Amino acid sequence: MKNLTCKLVIVLLLNLIFAHTGHADTKTAEPSIFSDDEIRRILSFGPWPTTMPQDAGNEFSGILAAEKLGEKLFSDTDLSGDKTLSCESCHQAANGFADQQPLSQGVQQHVRNTQGLLNVGMQRWFGWDGGADSLWSATLRPMLSEIEMAGDIQTIATRLRTKHYLFETLKQSGLHDKALSLPDEELVVLAAKTIAAYMRKLNSGTTAFDRYYTALNNNDIDGQNQYPKAAKRGLKTFIGDANCHVCHFGPNFSNGEFHDIGRPFFTDIGMVDPGRYAGIKRVRDDRYNLLGTYNGTAEPSEIRKTNSVKLVQDNFGQWRTPSLRNLRLTAPYMHDGSLSTLREVVDAYADIDTSRLHSKGESILKPLDLSNSQRNDLVEFLQTLTE
Ligand code: HEC
Ligand code: HEC
Repeated sequence: MKNLTCKLVIVLLLNLIFAHTGHADTKTAEPSIFSDDEIRRILSFGPWPTTMPQDAGNEFSGILAAEKLGEKLFSDTDLSGDKTLSCESCHQAANGFADQQPLSQGVQQHVRNTQGLLNVGMQRWFGWDGGADSLWSATLRPMLSEIEMAGDIQTIATRLRTKHYLFETLKQSGLHDKALSLPDEELVVLAAKTIAAYMRKLNSGTTAFDRYYTALNNNDIDGQNQYPKAAKRGLKTFIGDANCHVCHFGPNFSNGEFHDIGRPFFTDIGMVDPGRYAGIKRVRDDRYNLLGTYNGTAEPSEIRKTNSVKLVQDNFGQWRTPSLRNLRLTAPYMHDGSLSTLREVVDAYADIDTSRLHSKGESILKPLDLSNSQRNDLVEFLQTLTE
């Protein structure tokens, strides 16, 4: 009896194995359009999701109680001078934490587009110009900016002190038991650090591209066939002739560095937005930078970037390379919101006027000889980077 069961199991197993390999044999693999080199390049865009680094200088980063407090404060209008705006007014969840406006509208009219906040924790420098070196200092900036929320330390601290939930939670979770008696500025910094802890958790999920990545990595032909052909052709252009991957690389499709891609920098007659050039000045003068007294962790490795950043003329007209994840949620595009569709972005790259590049060293950008359908394919590919 035992023997029989044994035999049955073996027959069953053999059947399963043959059925499986037989199945795989009959499956026709689409002829791959990618060379081994190209596949290696594609595999550098993953895996996703990836681990989020801690927010530099933020002793509350990664702590659940702080994240929950930060989530509450994120939608609190008490952080703006006249109590009309919260972070959420401009950073709306349904729009990838951006706002669909070309230019952000705060207490005053901004000259920049509201950045989406999904996966923001992966950045090293914050803002289009990298004017902040941590997520928590990038939180203080809009609160105190005359253009965005026009708050001030004393007013915000006074309002924070009326929030019992804040001090209760800080005490109960062991984060701080005397926060109520902190000086104004320390209290506001603490609040900003909890908001930053919350934002670090705003991660986007797996996309069609990520599923293709996994299928490619696992030699899963079926999975690879699921990815649209047009997106594959677009991807081939992206990592090939168009050289997009030189700046948009890694799992977040950004090198985190600053480049000039020839977008106009005039904001009004005779007015310019100098981009990274202003950002470097800003981060150095920022009393909340990682070199200042409010750095709560003082990790030498985190301070290095701020210590070593140097201002050079080439920084003029440079902007941080944006991530290309979630683009379907965050139109319009570019630091000034000047391009409303992905097709317009692709056209801007393909038909670039290199005489408009302000700095040296962007010789990677050149007009691309792309047909209409190749441009559509590139757009198709970019679309697959949204969940
Ligand atoms: C008036 C609209 C507005 C409000 C209100 C606002 N922001 Fe922003 N946010 C922006 C704009 C515009 C930028 C780009 C700023 C720049 O480049 O200088 C930005 C950028 C950011 C960034 C940098 C993102 C990145 O990828 O580097 C963070 C973080 C951020 N905001 C968080 C917040 C928080 C937290 C609040 C609330 C305390 C807030 N914002 C309130 C408009 C707004
Ligand atoms: C030299 C580096 C570099 C190369 C090469 C490059 N980009 Fe960019 N990309 C940038 C920078 C910098 C910005 C932001 C410019 C600005 O805000 O004015 C940007 C912006 C974008 C945006 C808008 C994203 C947003 O959230 O606003 C898209 C989409 C994009 N690039 C796609 C591409 C594609 C497709 C290619 C290849 C055809 C490409 N990029 C090549 C650096 C580069």
